[in-house]
Amino acid sequence: MSHNRKEIPINNEKQESPAVSQQVSDTAKYVASLKAAAQFGGWSGNRTSPLFKQKNPLISESDIQKYAQIPQSIKTSVAVRERFFNKQMDYYVKKENYKQILILGSGLDVRAFHKNRDNQKDKAVSFYENVKFYEVDCAAILNPKENFFKENHLNKNAEYIQANYTQDNFVEMLKDKGFDITSPTLIIWEGNSMYIEKSKIEKLFQDLKAFSQFTIVFDHFTRDLIEGPRENSIYALHKQGLWVTGFNSEDIQKFAQVNGMNTTTIVEINELKQEYQVEENPEPSHYLISTMRK
Ligand SMILES: C[S@@+](CC[C@H](N)C(=O)[O-])C[C@H]1O[C@@H](n2cnc3c(N)ncnc32)[C@H](O)[C@@H]1O
Repeated sequence: MSHNRKEIPINNEKQESPAVSQQVSDTAKYVASLKAAAQFGGWSGNRTSPLFKQKNPLISESDIQKYAQIPQSIKTSVAVRERFFNKQMDYYVKKENYKQILILGSGLDVRAFHKNRDNQKDKAVSFYENVKFYEVDCAAILNPKENFFKENHLNKNAEYIQANYTQDNFVEMLKDKGFDITSPTLIIWEGNSMYIEKSKIEKLFQDLKAFSQFTIVFDHFTRDLIEGPRENSIYALHKQGLWVTGFNSEDIQKFAQVNGMNTTTIVEINELKQEYQVEENPEPSHYLISTMRK
């Protein structure tokens, strides 16, 4: 981050956030910092190019240093996940002509910002020119995020909806901001499913039935991991009891079917680590990304 930019003060004090517990909203900066730490290297594989090119302007060098003790394999996992989600987004925009992207629990995700007009001006073809982004998260995240872009005269390129998507009528709130429930939509639900009780996830998917056509891409742990013993887990957030829901592959198939969707992808982070050449023989992670489509 350049030094003349004002930094984002995330959660220095408790802000109005009936939506999401502070412990969960605090994970936004943690995850964005881990991604930034593993973006350009540090992995054990022989990959020579970055996992993703654009830096996150909301993350400073000191944020990255704060988590220096977190194992590299975990940092690499979240950076790999960022790359996979980016590729999914490109696919749905470029190949399937989607014009709406909804980011649920967006945290410090800056995909919308990177696709703003200024940041795309050197592209020969701007696939993102007419794509609209909507981000849903709590006030404690979205207020300082919005202020950061405003104060630095940067185009955030998204409509922000301050809501708890498991409690509030976020579909109506989206419509109020111009969201078209009949337009094919990519839903990015990244780094969220593990924090939400299963019954609330079911309610969320009931609400999503209001959309005519969508594809949702989300990462999740296995049910086996979540229901298994926590003490020896390699994941600090799991040990803290912050993760409450997991899906095995067979659960995903069933969940999709019950909710009138097809499963289009179930991939293990470990497979992606090998494909992206960042680890040769990764340890079993119980960590997957799935894509479902209506
Ligand atoms: C681990 S962060 C992930 C952020 C970002 N999607 C990423 O992957 O980098 C989880 C984010 O989801 C938000 N979140 C979790 N549950 C939510 C809910 N029910 N409604 C709105 N936001 C939620 C939290 O506030 C936090 O910003």
